[in-house]
Amino acid sequence: MTMSTTKTEASQTSADRQEIVQQVVREISHIATLPEITLRIIELVEDSEATAHDLHKVIANDPALSARVLKVVNSAFYALPGQIGSINRAIVLLGLNAVKNIAIAASLAKLFRGGRISPHFAARDLWRHSVAVGAGVKICSEQLQVGLPDEAFLAGLIHDIGIMVEMQARRANLLKVLDLVHQKDRPFIEAEKEVWGGLDHQDFGQGLCHMWKFPDSLGRVCGYHHRPLELDPDHRTLTGLVYVADHLAVEAGIGYSHTVDPGKLDERVLDDLKLSQNMLERVREALPDVVTEAEDLLS
Ligand SMILES: [Fe+2]
Ligand SMILES: [Fe+2]
Repeated sequence: MTMSTTKTEASQTSADRQEIVQQVVREISHIATLPEITLRIIELVEDSEATAHDLHKVIANDPALSARVLKVVNSAFYALPGQIGSINRAIVLLGLNAVKNIAIAASLAKLFRGGRISPHFAARDLWRHSVAVGAGVKICSEQLQVGLPDEAFLAGLIHDIGIMVEMQARRANLLKVLDLVHQKDRPFIEAEKEVWGGLDHQDFGQGLCHMWKFPDSLGRVCGYHHRPLELDPDHRTLTGLVYVADHLAVEAGIGYSHTVDPGKLDERVLDDLKLSQNMLERVREALPDVVTEAEDLLS
């Protein structure tokens, strides 16, 4: 599967940089991979011949995953009428794609492990931030009525996965980045670019999505969430929402809160999404409760 090409992609990913991204992402594939079952689910849903029955067979084989999927579909997140007691019913009600996204979300938490690597950074803090961004994207997408709450939530969970790639492949480099950010007050991405020779976590996140054959929409989220306006207007909404939710999560101080400056939310992104100040205020108000709910679901 190929990532979408944008006007600026050529300047962002020269052959050399692409080679470094590939190399780093290949290294982490030995350390932290998605569970086999999640990869099988992704492949299955991408396969146009696959049926709900095929997906049911795969999920039903894994009791822990089955239980998790049911917990999520029965949560306030979906607000479905009545209790859903079987995976089959969940697939019928939500569709293959939604169940796939729930399975990926359930797998991602495991990748954000690794303890505290500096007084300022632990993988868990980044996970909390990611859950907050997921909750924020979900609430924003509801305000705008753009649908797909599970994809919206997953987009937030995964957006900063490139930082985990850095941590797992070259911890010393991430420590240098953190040092520049926390001791020298440098903006996070600027510090990354200095340490990684022009690369940042967006490049690594997009590279990882590509390796995992994730949908292009998630690859774009990882690759462009700090610069959504560089994407083609037709493919900008989800990434734009992540950009906004990223700022709101940092502003609320939930989890690791140093990858963006919340005071620098680009109003052009809000205009582009048609997200009004009133809507933004409602998202701010709803965020803490939805984060608590989401943390409970994923714990
Ligand atoms: Fe980021
Ligand atoms: Fe973020």
